[in-house]
Amino acid sequence: MPLVSEYDVRRAAATGNRELYVDADAVVTPQALDIADRLGVDIQHRAAPMGAQPSIDPARAVQRLLLRRSPRWVAPPHRRGLAATRFTRIAFVGSGMVGATAAHLAAISGIADELSLVDVVPGLAAATALDLEHASGITGSATRARGGTSLDLCASADVVVVTAGRPRSPGMTRDALLAINARVIHDIAESIALHAPDAVVIVVTNPLDEMTSEMWRRSALPARQVIGMAGTLDSSRFRNALAGVAGVRPADVQAITLGSHGAEMVPLVSSATIKGRPVRDVLSTAMIDRAVAEAVNGGAAVVELRKTGSAFIAPAHAVMELVDALRGAITDPLPASVMLTGQYGIDGLFLGVRARFDSGGVVEVIEDRLDKAELSALQAAARSVQARLAG
Ligand code: LAC
Repeated sequence: MPLVSEYDVRRAAATGNRELYVDADAVVTPQALDIADRLGVDIQHRAAPMGAQPSIDPARAVQRLLLRRSPRWVAPPHRRGLAATRFTRIAFVGSGMVGATAAHLAAISGIADELSLVDVVPGLAAATALDLEHASGITGSATRARGGTSLDLCASADVVVVTAGRPRSPGMTRDALLAINARVIHDIAESIALHAPDAVVIVVTNPLDEMTSEMWRRSALPARQVIGMAGTLDSSRFRNALAGVAGVRPADVQAITLGSHGAEMVPLVSSATIKGRPVRDVLSTAMIDRAVAEAVNGGAAVVELRKTGSAFIAPAHAVMELVDALRGAITDPLPASVMLTGQYGIDGLFLGVRARFDSGGVVEVIEDRLDKAELSALQAAARSVQARLAG
């Protein structure tokens, strides 16, 4: 496979050539692309002879295409809020791996005066709170932490992150946890309504959309104060998967997932871009399908490997991304399970869509432009969630 270097481009330019013809399977180095750009030399790939087998693997071809077309493209930065709120208290109900890791991230970033950790397992939340404080001699974090078994610790929290409940074991679907975890959510919902009625509640317990709905129903809190975390996690997995198949950095990918947290997830391919270009222009259908499958099965893949317990690092970051939106540090809309009131033809149901947030919860549900297949997948997800809730 011929290699086109900076030298080849300079030589073409020196002889007055504005076009440099190279073989169809030639690999052009990034330096050559850069110099070609600066010297105004257009690198043209000759068509492969009829019947010739391409000697380049599809991933290399995609990388080359992306480099050739947009060598200077850089991901736009997340729009950061100028006046982010510092919370007085964030409570974590459930101090297992997701709760503890999210609390750890909150402590490091110092976004609250105090973190309250709660867990039914005696000593677990108190131990994690103490452990977090022990790190502050190194991190310098001013955030204090306390922990215990009583839900009173949520009192007057600005945000309550609920991860309590049984996690999945290998081979188990998230839906199989419905009956078990609904009881857990009901107790917590009543307690939050009593001790922290102004809090925004972020539900992480699975099955996600159903548990978010149960939290809202049982707590009787306004719908805008109840949010399910799944879209930020699934979208991160989707971007990572697309970056993997395209051979670019995850920051070069813009893509989100809507729908339910599970088999009825709706990774939006129609609006996904890599280096600013539609994924359908730069990736084959097989590559896109691989990335979609990776996003949908990401959680199960971690459960399968870990054997006991599920993912916690990406979920914790995905929780904190929502907390950042609540405190105004992120002003872009984010995907999350929120109450729909007619958007996409879906009414009175919690499902993953993009929304804007402030410290009081959901401000606005965004109705994105979907293609026909995506819209019907979203509506099918709604019907499935509704059926499971009724069942
Ligand atoms: C996952 C769990 C948190 O997707 O649902 O990893």
